[in-house]
Amino acid sequence: MALTFTRHSLVVIVGALLLQLFFLAGLAPAAAAAGPTGQVTVFWGRNKDEGSLREACDTGLYTMVVMSFLNVYGARGGEYRLDLAGHPVGGIGGDVKHCQRKGVLVSLSIGGGAYSLPTNQSALDLFEHLWNTYLGGGGGKGAVAAARPFGDAVLDGVDFFLDRATPAERYDVLATELAKRGKPPRRALHLTATTRCAFPDRGAARALATGAFERVHVRFYGGGGGGDDNCTVYWEDAWDRWTAAYPRSRIYFGLPAAPAVAEEEQDGRSGYVYPKTLYYRYVPELQKAANYGGFMIWDRYSDKQSGYSGYVKNWA
Ligand SMILES: *[C@@H]1O[C@H](CO)[C@@H](O)[C@H](O)[C@H]1NC(C)=O
Ligand SMILES: *[C@@H]1O[C@H](CO)[C@@H](O)[C@H](O)[C@H]1NC(C)=O
Repeated sequence: MALTFTRHSLVVIVGALLLQLFFLAGLAPAAAAAGPTGQVTVFWGRNKDEGSLREACDTGLYTMVVMSFLNVYGARGGEYRLDLAGHPVGGIGGDVKHCQRKGVLVSLSIGGGAYSLPTNQSALDLFEHLWNTYLGGGGGKGAVAAARPFGDAVLDGVDFFLDRATPAERYDVLATELAKRGKPPRRALHLTATTRCAFPDRGAARALATGAFERVHVRFYGGGGGGDDNCTVYWEDAWDRWTAAYPRSRIYFGLPAAPAVAEEEQDGRSGYVYPKTLYYRYVPELQKAANYGGFMIWDRYSDKQSGYSGYVKNWA
């Protein structure tokens, strides 16, 4: 009797140890919760009063800064325009390198303004522009090198922010070209998309279907209708859809840094989540997803005033 009991205990102990080893070795089942990742992405470049890019990185609050926007491209006969809300462009190259030395990724978001990408050729042209002007290209040719507003600083990625895009546009072609250039042994190129919350986002769907996106920042805040407001109320449903639809991408929960940020504030549906609610209600739920990525904060200007990321950083 005593012997049987001991043997049984032994089996249980060995079993538990093996299970633990399994988890330590990262062999946990695929559906395991992601848990905290510590990742906080912020948008910068929509308000001159938010301070410099360098200052944003020096706060230690963010792991990625997305500059916004390259908002003119495509249809207007080869015109490309960067709009950083009046930030002087001259110092940004140095700031980018400063951020990168601190381990903060810096990328550029395309979209937000008068843009379109109706044909394969326009997509390939935009790719060439991005590659030569902000990424790893442009070396050698004087004219091209001189056209780089951030000098020889090489950005870490490109973000797709496609609110005005139609399903027919060729962002898939652009994404595929960019992804090719980010393959080892080349320097990594972090492709991200910042989508509306209502699933699916038709403007971004074709690009996302390429599977080329490392991260998807889903904007769980109002403005613009289209079911987005519904989405902030039924956020769990939307979160489940996004995380299930793109298992190979890390999904980020996009939040405004202050109540005033959201354009349409009705019935408390602006999408602003009080820190306490975020911690107790949202964080445990979001981090159950195996491909939870972190948080995206809109934007640096309001975050500087509210200090919201100071909380988010600890729970991300
Ligand atoms: C555009 O590119 C896609 C993907 O590479 C290709 O399948 C399609 O045939 C191209 N369309 C035209 C009009 O060249
Ligand atoms: C809002 O979302 C819920 C949950 O996903 C859904 O059942 C409902 O139909 C949606 N309502 C509208 C107006 O889209």
